[in-house]
Amino acid sequence: MGHYDFDKIYDRRNTDCIKWDFGMQRMGRDDLLPLWVADMDFRLPDEVISDIVKRAEHGIFGYTDPGEGYLGPVRDWYKRRHGFDSKSEWITVVPGIVYAIALTVRTFTEPGDAVIIQQPVYYPFSETIEVNHRKLVNNQLIYKEGRYEIDFEDFERKIVEEKVKLFLLCSPHNPVGRVWSRDDLKRLADICRKHDVLVFADEIHSDFVYKGHRHTPFISLGEEYWDRLIVGTSASKTFNLAGLQIANIFIPDEKLRKRFRAENEAMGYSQPNLLGMVATKSVYEKGEQWLDELLEYLAGNLDYVRDFLAEKLPKVKLVEPEGTYLIWLDFSEAVNDRKQLKELIVDKAKLWLDPGIIFSKETALFERINIACPRATLEKAMEQLYTAMTE
Ligand SMILES: Cc1ncc(COP(=O)(O)O)c(C=O)c1O
Repeated sequence: MGHYDFDKIYDRRNTDCIKWDFGMQRMGRDDLLPLWVADMDFRLPDEVISDIVKRAEHGIFGYTDPGEGYLGPVRDWYKRRHGFDSKSEWITVVPGIVYAIALTVRTFTEPGDAVIIQQPVYYPFSETIEVNHRKLVNNQLIYKEGRYEIDFEDFERKIVEEKVKLFLLCSPHNPVGRVWSRDDLKRLADICRKHDVLVFADEIHSDFVYKGHRHTPFISLGEEYWDRLIVGTSASKTFNLAGLQIANIFIPDEKLRKRFRAENEAMGYSQPNLLGMVATKSVYEKGEQWLDELLEYLAGNLDYVRDFLAEKLPKVKLVEPEGTYLIWLDFSEAVNDRKQLKELIVDKAKLWLDPGIIFSKETALFERINIACPRATLEKAMEQLYTAMTE
């Protein structure tokens, strides 16, 4: 029995919570059980909450800046959890990873330039490319025997043919749950280096890795790759701080960093969110045991879903994740088309999930489920799905 109680259900309704309060606006109904956006239904440890409350009670919320008292814990976390020793001067604090991706696209490419991604992937990747009028080039992941792999030949061919300038890497990969191996990453890095492609490595899910797997920080592949590398890290997935708007971007190369920071200034962004910084420092210093217990709890949730599907809904295939709390389910043996899938998930099962179509055209018969919720919520969701599929 752990120290923290992840079974406890907290009512998140009426807290301006995008996951629970916006069904009417976003889905036209408010009777759906939400397991969509990557947002967890767990409360942070009391030690962290009291650090935030203590700072709030001071009552003065002026401008701040990230000093060593903040950057130290960020670096220590990266060192302890991922084995990589970084430097404070490499880090730029911004309001989010997606903001940093957009900034990277705008700083290092021109309208019309090609940016490569690996679909199915977190949908703001394609949205950011498109709203900034860059050309989206897709290196579709290969889905073979229930597992996703990288098509390296296609990756290199498209980089050359399309004169790709920038690669947005998702590592670990949302939604397919792959924790890319050092070999995979090295092959990608070598291709990018050969063809002078800048890499943005989005490592926001790096703290969610299941037993038997290990996250490889892209930055650890070797200094020879650093002149083309920007790494996005954040406590906002690990500790569910997305509403506090903080991400830490590591750029070891000085020239790249200067350009990134100049564009950040040009956007008018300078001092970060004070409470976001307080929370990030606190979780990195005091949240480790909570995270370790959470990882075990999530592994239990994953076991539950895997067993439930195998036993009761064998036509729904789980793509076994190596990391992330986002589960990718293949419904292609259970439904014929997207409309049928929507009817099943939304109208019959009354679930609010992320439909596969938003991650890539090819994955219209998939759904992504967020399992970072108390077991009872997940059981309710699976029972609703079972009833919908068997009635
Ligand atoms: C791969 C990935 N990158 C970025 C984000 C969002 O990051 P932020 O809220 O810092 O923009 C998410 C959220 O789910 C994600 O899955």
